[in-house]
Amino acid sequence: MKISVVGTGYLGATHAACLAEMGFEVVGLDIDPLKIAALANGELPFHEPGLPELIREHVANGRLRFTTSYEEIGSWADLHFLAVGTPQRAGEQAADTSFVEDAVRSLAENIPRSALIVGKSTVPVGTARRLQDILQLHRRPGADVGLAWNPEFLREGFAVNDTLSPDRIVLGTDDPEHEALLRAVYAKPIRQGTPVIVTDFETAELVKAAANAFLATKISFINALSEITEVVGGDIRTLAQGIGLDARIGASFLRAGLGFGGGCLPKDIRALQARASELGQERSMRFLSDVEEINLRRRERAVHLATSMLGELVSSKIAVLGAAFKPNSDDVRDSPALDVAVRLFDAGADVAVYDPKANANASRRFPRLTYAENVEQAVAEADLVMVLTEWKEFVELSPENLQLLTSARKIIDGRNVLRAEEWTDAGWEFAALGRKYAPAYEYSTIGV
Ligand code: UGA
Repeated sequence: MKISVVGTGYLGATHAACLAEMGFEVVGLDIDPLKIAALANGELPFHEPGLPELIREHVANGRLRFTTSYEEIGSWADLHFLAVGTPQRAGEQAADTSFVEDAVRSLAENIPRSALIVGKSTVPVGTARRLQDILQLHRRPGADVGLAWNPEFLREGFAVNDTLSPDRIVLGTDDPEHEALLRAVYAKPIRQGTPVIVTDFETAELVKAAANAFLATKISFINALSEITEVVGGDIRTLAQGIGLDARIGASFLRAGLGFGGGCLPKDIRALQARASELGQERSMRFLSDVEEINLRRRERAVHLATSMLGELVSSKIAVLGAAFKPNSDDVRDSPALDVAVRLFDAGADVAVYDPKANANASRRFPRLTYAENVEQAVAEADLVMVLTEWKEFVELSPENLQLLTSARKIIDGRNVLRAEEWTDAGWEFAALGRKYAPAYEYSTIGV
């Protein structure tokens, strides 16, 4: 089977490389010639462990190549995966589906044969039905081009593994031939036991939106409880463990801290609310605005903690460890860590940011912050150290090592990854979101 992947961003580049790994002949298409040239050399504009190697391997063995030509893939491929972006529309909550629409139109105009288009992009429910109309309208005479929906659930940082061994495969189609084709594409993971769900377009689209909304809700749920444990003096990590061991609840996505960010969860909960409103069901997804508010309040809270520990922010020197929205990523889109750094800076603090991979992206977005080349440089002059993204090298920090690098004896654990006692025993003033912190710090003065 010959397969094209339209759009070579995070999703598309990973999907194309993984299809080649599964043994297919694959062509990745992007309208950006510079991106295509870089990808052909295995150079990615983002950090994703294992992906550059996989691309290089399959470019070298000829199974994977890249193009900018719809005409080329139109006559060549049996199957076309749609992996273009659906960013938030400027000034609105809703997703911009114009790139998927353009891609389907371009494919329809350039496919002279029978083929199947398979949507993977995250879209508002109802989009696939509309795309089918676009396909119908622009289809070449005699060409038999179908559409199926197959949402993607990969996580940044684990993209290759998530694609090769997904938790589930969702197929939105009512055509047995299309289903058979897609089952052939995913034969390997299916053989390894990945369950397949076959459903209609709408449910397939909604599974994706609902999964991200549920994950965001789970994170905000535990973070809302942090607001309570902070006041009464409980420990949010133990609380999360206590509920997570209930098999009906499950322990994952209950890591309390600075909350969620990135290119997906924040955008997708906004898009789901916007879509629900369009459908006249504004009330059904209204709770997601609370989910978002709770998420943003954690950032305020981190700034508040810093202020309380330092007395005042103006002229205080703060080392912010972490800028990426999560570890093993250089993505700073909607990053809680970077947002806190900017808030501290705007409040008058002197902020030095260090992230093992995201410094470049962060400094492009916020050039006014100072960026350090390593932990040592970031903390050297600091009055306060804040761990805001849980990179391994920060999780492994110990008071013994850190106090060789800085005279600061104040630390905030924004991701609940450090052992409080270790720090307080070593004489540090320690604070964490949702946990008891240094005795000198009085709950009653905080206010939530
Ligand atoms: C998310 C979903 O997990 C994927 O399934 C989905 O395919 C993807 O969005 C997408 O729509 O493309 P991703 O954005 O890579 O993946 O990030 P996650 O690993 O889900 O983390 C999201 C955010 O939640 C991060 O900022 C992370 O730090 C935060 N988080 C996660 C917590 O604060 N606590 C947790 O317990 C878990």
